[in-house]
Amino acid sequence: MTTRANAARYMTGFANHFASEAAPGALPEGRNSPQKTPLGLYAEQLSGTAFTAPRSENRRSWLYRLRPSAQHGPYRPFDQGGVRSGPFDETPPNPNRMRWDPLPLPGEPTDWVEGLVTYGGNGEPDGGAGAGIHMYAADRSMTDRVFYCADGELLIVPQQGAHRFVTEFGLIEAAPGHIVVIPRGVRFRVELDGPIRGYVCENYGAPFRLPDLGPIGSNGLANPRDFETPVAAFEDVDRPTECIQKYGGKLWATTFNHSPLDVVAWHGNLVPYRYDTARFNTIGTVSFDHPDPSIFTVLTSPSETPGTANIDFVIFPPRWMVAENTFRPPWFHRNVMSEFMGLVFGEYDAKEGGGFAPGGASLHNRMSGHGPDQTTYDNAVKAELKPIKIDRTLAFMFETRMPIRTTAWAEGTPTMQLDYDDAWTGFDKGRVKP
Ligand SMILES: [Fe+2]
Repeated sequence: MTTRANAARYMTGFANHFASEAAPGALPEGRNSPQKTPLGLYAEQLSGTAFTAPRSENRRSWLYRLRPSAQHGPYRPFDQGGVRSGPFDETPPNPNRMRWDPLPLPGEPTDWVEGLVTYGGNGEPDGGAGAGIHMYAADRSMTDRVFYCADGELLIVPQQGAHRFVTEFGLIEAAPGHIVVIPRGVRFRVELDGPIRGYVCENYGAPFRLPDLGPIGSNGLANPRDFETPVAAFEDVDRPTECIQKYGGKLWATTFNHSPLDVVAWHGNLVPYRYDTARFNTIGTVSFDHPDPSIFTVLTSPSETPGTANIDFVIFPPRWMVAENTFRPPWFHRNVMSEFMGLVFGEYDAKEGGGFAPGGASLHNRMSGHGPDQTTYDNAVKAELKPIKIDRTLAFMFETRMPIRTTAWAEGTPTMQLDYDDAWTGFDKGRVKP
């Protein structure tokens, strides 16, 4: 019998100490692990940071479940498919700018796990730094199968289709425009009604958090109350369920004799959540020039170096452009941070010449020159600078302090655009008389 709620419901706040129960009385009062847990449930702590991490960074939850998580046989190696992991050493470091056409939808029945393919990444899971960058394309729901990632936290950016993430903590519904973050270790499956596609940042480092706001003040960018965590919902299914995990860079699988999505109640701040990017309070110039794109940071995974992120998740949402006497698109730049970009919908304002399509991707590694293409440049320098709205678009960036190494698949796939350098050929020389 399934007792999971049909409709998703959420609690709001960013990594709050939430408490939720799907059956009355399931959540113990006053202690985490009483001698006898209510309703004969099994108490389990899931920790996402070291026990002794500072209180402000400490993430953990207590789960009350039908059966212990430990009740399963050995994991065995599972088909890697397109999944790769740090250390990314399949190919030599490659300084070239790269761009890919949209990831094709599957030609044969494929679920979310089977549809994962890795573009690249940096660092490695054991060192607790870096990230893996993946995409997925799927056309069938995961059935009697769940997945979890022991190597990192998953930040998922749906690009096409309605997604349902059935997690140990409850049900999360997401569509293009949402992002979903699933902590390391949390099991889930992805259900769908039609083809889905999206991007995944597998964060090996510190859990994503909201960035500090500095002089912006106490409001702005992504506000804590707009993050949504599901209420408890469980399923009571006595049917073999395959559990696939990513551990040590490889996929492993075992079979439970039941669904492990059997958490009846939970409390804590290590939680999955979704965020609607339409809620992002976008801030920009009201005079001239424009701020660095860090002004668009939604979430950050800090490194041990202040202000230098392991990963920043940055969006380029709809916004007004009003700057006077200013080249308004993104300027030419060469950065120490490396940038993997995706496009959920619409058109990105630095690539009016085409080639960066929804479901596609681009990579600009450390110190590689890039910026507006010829068409964008030509239009921007002669545009009438009245207020205009960049509308119906959502591009994003996984920005990271370490260069991104691409996989052999990413460098060899037919979707790789071999002519990407042409985006910047043909610019006229500046006019200087000797
Ligand atoms: Fe850039």
